[in-house]
Amino acid sequence: MYAQMIKSTGQGVKALDEMDPQERAFQERIDAGEKIEPKDWMPEGYRQNLIRQIGQHAHSEIVGQLPEGNWITRAPTLERKAILLAKVQDEAGHGLYLYCAAETLGVSRDDLTEQLIDGRMKYSSIFNYPTLTWADMGAVGWLVDGAAIMNQVPLQRTSYGPYSRAMIRICKEESFHQRQGFDLMTKMAKGTEAQKRMAQDALNRFWYPSLMMFGPSDKDSVHSAQSMAWKIKMNTNDELRQKFVDQTVPQADYLGLTVPDDTLKWNEERGHYDFAEPDWDEFFAVIKGHGPCNAERIVARRKAWEDGAWVRDGLMAHADKKAAKVAAE
Ligand code: 3HC
Repeated sequence: MYAQMIKSTGQGVKALDEMDPQERAFQERIDAGEKIEPKDWMPEGYRQNLIRQIGQHAHSEIVGQLPEGNWITRAPTLERKAILLAKVQDEAGHGLYLYCAAETLGVSRDDLTEQLIDGRMKYSSIFNYPTLTWADMGAVGWLVDGAAIMNQVPLQRTSYGPYSRAMIRICKEESFHQRQGFDLMTKMAKGTEAQKRMAQDALNRFWYPSLMMFGPSDKDSVHSAQSMAWKIKMNTNDELRQKFVDQTVPQADYLGLTVPDDTLKWNEERGHYDFAEPDWDEFFAVIKGHGPCNAERIVARRKAWEDGAWVRDGLMAHADKKAAKVAAE
């Protein structure tokens, strides 16, 4: 697999015979499916790539709370409010597990948050789109969490132990997120004409941004070859995108909704749907900070970080005092 990876991508991934003995022994552990733990030797590039991916994954969980948090006070029933509250709370926990996994690599949560706030780290492009109607809560659960599950399930087998264990925990909760979203979309799509129109509008606006969640097409992916050689990533972006389309189109058919892609067609020969790719110019503009909601998301994160400084300072003062007392005993 690894050697075949080199041939197929050749994106600067070292072949085994180009590695020094320590790198080679490390790569053979990865190829054997072993888990790498925080205290194990690892190439600096592996550590940096993990900090990048896990840090951005954690940021995505926290920023992802904002579009849904926007609807907690406007949920149409107490039951829907409770479901949305539980989901948004779960996402905070997902962020926590992932920041903890990143901290095992020697980077602090403070540092990662500062990098997010000053634009040196990304979060998932999808969260830069506004949630305009209640049906968007269904589309986010159904499509965004559906795409997140597609992308996160394979990561349970990632080579870095703390990341893999965080993923196992997170994936258990993501299925509830997707089911509640699909249930909401079903109620809307099978409801009044106005509700069905609202559900179709939500699908129209969230379809292509959900396809973008899997990253640029493989030919434009900067990290895939090395990340897959190190099992930081288990599949290519296009593989997971295709899997998502194949799984989601029949669900849209069941809902009686139309995927906004006139080229969408089942290809018997390939055994997959043929579909139109997202607008990659839009994708790269959004991840460069020019999406509909990028500015407000960072303002919200900066305000939360600054408003919470007194809590962090108080906890640290308490921890320092406790540590000094234990040291004095
Ligand atoms: N949004 C923002 N940036 C993206 C992106 C997206 N959807 N897709 C790719 N990028 C960035 C990459 O980070 C990279 O930039 P960088 O060098 O500054 O980090 C650049 O575009 C090139 O992309 P690559 O394909 O080379 O990057 P990766 O190999 O890292 O692939 C990825 C991107 C598939 C998102 C991969 O990082 C990954 O699998 N990450 C872990 C899962 C994750 O973060 N999912 C995000 C959603 S989590 C979520 O939705 C929460 C849920 O509860 C709702």
